[in-house]
Amino acid sequence: MHTKNLKDISKLSNVNKNYDLTFTKSILFGLKARQKTIESKWLYDENGSKIFDAITELEEYYPTRAETEILRKCSGDLAQFISPDTVMIELGSGSSTKTRLVLDALPALKHYAPLDISKEYLEVAAKGLSADYPSIEVTPIVADLTNEMKLTSALEEMPKLIFFPGSTIGNFEVNEARKMLRRIAKMKHVAALVVGFDLVKDTSKLIRAYDDSKGVTAMFNMNLLTRINRELHADFDLEMFYHEARWNDKLSRIEMHLVSKCNQDVYLLEACISFKAGETIHTENSHKYTADSFTTLSKESGWAIQDIWNDEEGLFAVAVLKPSGEFCLVSLA
Ligand code: AVI
Repeated sequence: MHTKNLKDISKLSNVNKNYDLTFTKSILFGLKARQKTIESKWLYDENGSKIFDAITELEEYYPTRAETEILRKCSGDLAQFISPDTVMIELGSGSSTKTRLVLDALPALKHYAPLDISKEYLEVAAKGLSADYPSIEVTPIVADLTNEMKLTSALEEMPKLIFFPGSTIGNFEVNEARKMLRRIAKMKHVAALVVGFDLVKDTSKLIRAYDDSKGVTAMFNMNLLTRINRELHADFDLEMFYHEARWNDKLSRIEMHLVSKCNQDVYLLEACISFKAGETIHTENSHKYTADSFTTLSKESGWAIQDIWNDEEGLFAVAVLKPSGEFCLVSLA
């Protein structure tokens, strides 16, 4: 890729002030890397979020169904972590179905704080929940999961149950997941962390979940190019790329890629990005764990396993962790 002045993107002559600079920088730097990359968080614009909702309804995408089955069965057990002042903090944009399942199972819970990067999403979610659960005080927190997650001092002092469903933890590199788990373990007054993670399984089942027969996941991935075309005035030809889901056995993860069908140049702001036929943009990782590998990760990150729940088919798991106060020495580079 050739660009005029990547060091100071804001000075590129055609970077309109309306471009989101964080998005612009992230896309340009990602496409400049040897393995072209787009951070997976950019999959979730308005259209991407809608397509993701459609993915969760697919027969082939088992995680949502399996996790819902587990929560339906086991959420009542979480009552042991609830006192009158406890706040349940939900990390990431949890589907309201799962939140409601847990709230229904925990009538003693009076405080709920959804945390998400999207203010708009939070406002809608908070309004809906406040209307349906008038006895619960809802306090939305706008924060980026990948950063520090600043809480108000009132929330900081409250006893906490942290809810992190959806196997979103799988979208983090293992080192990043460890860092995040450590940050949560160091929060004040955490009674437990409830976290959903997807399990290693037959590769063909995994591939089908991320490359479904109706092409919904392909649409989700390709939407990134539509978004970049729209927001950064790029000229990706969508006919010249296709979606691919790969299993990376060494790193125990599904990877999503966009594959270039031919040698081609794409223009984006003042940059020209050259693709060879077959070259890919790596757009997402979805790490799969075993009960053992997740236990190891948790222990290294300051947590002790209290329970691991599974669905009937053994496809997915929800772990209940308690802070151990012990942090193993693992390089966090
Ligand atoms: C949000 N996240 C847990 C999903 C996953 O399974 O990794 C994102 C996804 N990507 C393609 N399909 C679903």
